[in-house]
Amino acid sequence: MATVQQPNLEGENPLVEGLERLPVAPTTLVIFGATGDLAQRKLLPALYNLAHEGGLPERFHLIGVSRREKAHAEYAEECEQAIRRFSRRAVDEDVLKRLLEDVKYVPGEFDEESVYGTLEQTLDGFEEQAGGPLNRAFYLSTAPSFFPIIVEALGAQGLNAREGAEVRVVIEKPFGTSLEEARELNRRVLSVFEESQVFRIDHYLGKETVQNMMAFRFANGMFEPLWNRNYIDSVQITAAEDIGIGTRAGYYDNAGALRDLIQNHMLQLLCHVAMEPPVSFTAEEVRNEKVKVLHAIHAPEGDEVGRMSVRGQYGPGHVAGEDVPGYLAEDGVREESTTETYAAMRLEVDNWRWAGVPFYLRAGKRLARKITEIAVTLKPVPHLAFSQAGSLGVRPNQLILTLQPNEGVTLQLGAKIPGTRMMIRPVNMEFLYGTSFLSQSPEAYERLIMDAMRGDPTLFTRDDEVEAQWCICDPILQTWEALPGPLAQYESGSQGPDEANDILRDGHSWRAI
Ligand code: BG6
Repeated sequence: MATVQQPNLEGENPLVEGLERLPVAPTTLVIFGATGDLAQRKLLPALYNLAHEGGLPERFHLIGVSRREKAHAEYAEECEQAIRRFSRRAVDEDVLKRLLEDVKYVPGEFDEESVYGTLEQTLDGFEEQAGGPLNRAFYLSTAPSFFPIIVEALGAQGLNAREGAEVRVVIEKPFGTSLEEARELNRRVLSVFEESQVFRIDHYLGKETVQNMMAFRFANGMFEPLWNRNYIDSVQITAAEDIGIGTRAGYYDNAGALRDLIQNHMLQLLCHVAMEPPVSFTAEEVRNEKVKVLHAIHAPEGDEVGRMSVRGQYGPGHVAGEDVPGYLAEDGVREESTTETYAAMRLEVDNWRWAGVPFYLRAGKRLARKITEIAVTLKPVPHLAFSQAGSLGVRPNQLILTLQPNEGVTLQLGAKIPGTRMMIRPVNMEFLYGTSFLSQSPEAYERLIMDAMRGDPTLFTRDDEVEAQWCICDPILQTWEALPGPLAQYESGSQGPDEANDILRDGHSWRAI
């Protein structure tokens, strides 16, 4: 059994005051796809960091399920290597040893009945040691085609419920590749589990900065009165990456930027900007408000798709001092693939608060740098009393919420340049996470794994929410698929395709990446 020592935080950093350790009931976590990339890079390091901070339940067990045959000890060794390599903090040998001392491994194909028999015995074994039932969390970190297969096999084995304990299933993204598939997957998952047992992951919801958007909007009286069509001119949400697709061609070439980032992460960000204040911060209230936003978004149809969205593909170029190949030359990409590595769109939220305000979304690989931000631009002041002459440009105020890399909030204001003349220039008022809290934000997966084990679904996507996201994306994807090419091209390391400017309203421009 792995027990986790509660570290003494006192005296460590006064600014982390208020951080609490939320109680988590004794749990066995089962990771399907236990040797995959996500498990190695994110899930195992997240478990280690939770253990390090005393965030895991006092009694915690880990079982890995994957195809290849290997012994428990060999799997534990792999876990150890992954943690040492990818953990955000240096490893404490005692914590690591305790976390991995009784890790179990179940080999087999996910559609093989015997795997679930062995899994049940392993789960029961831990419960015998504990002298009673333990909560169970099944984490599906496999290729998406296995999601329904695993869920149904768990049901067939009777592992979807446990008397005296809670059973939960965590499902990774992508949740379907179209509205139809998402509906079908929901149907199959919900024929085995109750919605309250299902935790659909969108790791952006676990990011501190995304959660801070709610604090920012609803814990401050200053912004909310301005937060509407009367004062806000436009909203721009960017998720730019400088990396290419790496070794993920098998997945990415079938997905593309819209499915990979916009359908889930970016629509979640949009919802956080646009949602009404929930009555309370319960999972249902928060998710109800987000679903209302999604329902208010008009999904482009027919010709509108061309006017409201743009897709592009990266060519060769130069990124971070290196020459990089174009998308079509990446390993594993289909010859003449028309998969988009960049997508941009202009959406509107047709409701009382937002009618007429454009929400611009863009996401892409191999752009100039990694930056995820939300820029809210206010309307210009009604009358400019100062002469523009000589000023470096009076600009409308902008509020920029940066999610990464330098998490924080910047308010762009007009200020007078010191001197005898009235010259105005934009200046920044900044709040930076790192400076204010002197602590590293936990990785999104730490928060999400803990919440799933605690049974709090607030930061997970509900069934109707995921379908509402697909309702917006589906018509765009269908139109793109019907018109396979040519795609707008952009040089690696650039700002993206020039065609992205075509969807902007007059007077608007994309922020520099
Ligand atoms: C994942 C996508 O969901 O998010 C990746 O599949 C992308 O393609 C990643 O790189 C970006 O996440 P983050 O947290 O680095 O912004």
